[in-house]
This record gives sequence, C-alpha cells and structure tokens, in this order.
Amino acid sequence: MYNLLKGKKGIIFGALNSKSIAWKVAEKAFEEGATFTLSNTPVAMRFGEINELAERCNAEIIPADATNLNDLENLFTKSMDILGGKIDFVLHSIGMSLNVRKGRLYDNLDYNYFLKTIDISALSFHKVLQTARKLDAINEWGSVLALSYVAAQRTLYGYNDMADAKAILESIARSFGYIYGRDKKVRVNTISQSPTRTTAGSGVKGIDGLIDFTDRMSPLGNADAEDCANFCITMFSDLTKKITMQNIFHDGGFSSMGMSLRAMTQYNKSFGEDEVMNLE
Ligand SMILES: NC(=O)c1ccc[n+]([C@@H]2O[C@H](COP(=O)([O-])OP(=O)(O)OC[C@H]3O[C@@H](n4cnc5c(N)ncnc54)[C@H](O)[C@@H]3O)[C@@H](O)[C@H]2O)c1
Repeated sequence: MYNLLKGKKGIIFGALNSKSIAWKVAEKAFEEGATFTLSNTPVAMRFGEINELAERCNAEIIPADATNLNDLENLFTKSMDILGGKIDFVLHSIGMSLNVRKGRLYDNLDYNYFLKTIDISALSFHKVLQTARKLDAINEWGSVLALSYVAAQRTLYGYNDMADAKAILESIARSFGYIYGRDKKVRVNTISQSPTRTTAGSGVKGIDGLIDFTDRMSPLGNADAEDCANFCITMFSDLTKKITMQNIFHDGGFSSMGMSLRAMTQYNKSFGEDEVMNLE
C-alpha cells in the first residue's frame, strides 16, 4: 500500500462479483486511501454480491444503467453529494453483447442486438464523459478509464460484435480526451487487458483455449484481474498525470508478438513427426 489515492474520490462501474475486474479495482482503491461510490444496473444488483463489496469498502451503491442519461446524471450528482465534492477518478468497466450471449455469429448478427452492444459497451463511455463534463463533476487532473481488448485492432476468432464496440470505445477516449484535457485537464484512457476469467470473459467463445494461447504467446504471461487493478490504480494516481488519449496494452506483451516458442511448441504437437520436420 502506497496511499496513492489518498483523498481522492471516485466512481467505479461494473463490479458484479468477486471475479470482476472492477471488484478488484474497488478493493485496491480502498486500500490506497480513496473514497468512492459503486454503480451497476439494477439487474446486476439483484445478485446481491456488490453489497458485500460496498460494506468492505465503506462505499455507497448507486444503481445506474450506463446507457441512460438520467441515471448517469443522478449518479454523478449523488456521488458528489455523498463524497463531499467533485470526482477524481472514474472506472468504466462495462461490456455486454446479446449477439454473443445468444450465439449469433458475426455473419449473422441481429442488428437490434448489435445496436445494444454498441450502446452498452461503447456509447455508454461517451455518455459518462458527456454527463460528467456538463455537470463539471470531475476535478482538474482527474482520470477516467475504460477497459478494452486487443480485438479492437486485430481479429480474434469469436469476439464478434464486441470487437467493433471496443474500436469505438478506444476512439471515444481519444476524441473526448482531447476536449476534456484541453478544457479541464481531465485525462481519458483505455486499458487493453489480457483475456481474463470473469463473467463477461467467460461469454467469449473458446475462452479457455484463448487464455492458454495468449499466455503461451506473451513473454510475461497473461495479466490477471488483480494485475489490471494495480495498473488502474497507477492510472488514477498523480504519478501518471500526463497520460491521456491513449489505449495502453496491459497484456504481458501479447499485442507485440507474432509467434512465440511456447505457442509454436504446442502448435507443433498437433502434427505428426514428419510434418513437424517439414515446418522447420
Ligand atoms: N474478461 C476479459 O477477458 C476482458 C478482457 C479485456 C477487457 N475486458 C473488459 O473489462 C470490462 C469488465 O468486464 P469483466 O471482465 O470484469 O466482466 P464482468 O462481467 O464482471 O463485468 C461487466 C459488467 O458490465 C456491467 N453492465 C452490463 N450492462 C450494463 C449497463 N447497461 N450499465 C451498467 N453496467 C452494465 C455488468 O453488470 C457487469 O458488472 C468490460 O468492458 C470488458 O469488456 C474484459
């Protein structure tokens, strides 16, 4: 513990259960001296686990559907009331695709679901930023983060319409980051995280194979939810004040790799010995 967030006030979206990346961020933010409110959809609250986190972190829960502007306005206003002033950090840890959930493949999308994917997983980030900006709810040098995935840049089998949502999400960080930085010195970034076993992560087709593959490909191995939380804390702290409009890969090196020895060794096991010789 370094007291990196001492005196800072925040809003953390997306803690569903103890596997959630947002859950780990909340735990670490509390350890580092922050006070914050927690938010999730009323549906997610019914699972009830967030109450346990709130109690442990001494945080109030304010329900909000992140696609709903009234909910967001209420969330920011109430959070400033409860925390006693403007906000210093916001974590947007929100993603959902009905096409993925219902098994609709990318060449057979339901377009109503597609629009919902974009609204929930990308536009909600713009809505959070625009609401905060209009209410002037974030302090100078405040830090706003959303979580992304490398499928925004590269095609990964099975990630479906979430890839498009992540590309928009990262673009919003750049576009809004310019305006918010210029006018209010607020920074806006996305963190592109390794595949991680969470509720949202488990919805991705072939997640176990993907996690094994990216781990073999990454010189440092996959980053887990706790690693991600540590990085989020540094991004909320004053130690990273001049980082804005970035998408930062937090993936053990995966995004810069083409092929690794560990992945190739495993791949070669699927061939007979003669075929492996031919490959060399
Ligand atoms: N798990 C992974 O492999 C992985 C990898 C890279 C990025 N991410 C991203 O990390 C973020 C957090 O996901 P996670 O893996 O911790 O899974 P998670 O399922 O624990 O979290 C997703 C959260 O989104 C919330 N949510 C859904 N619709 C919402 C809405 N309309 N309004 C407000 N909240 C809503 C859910 O209730 C849930 O709490 C997501 O953006 C996800 O895409 C995850």
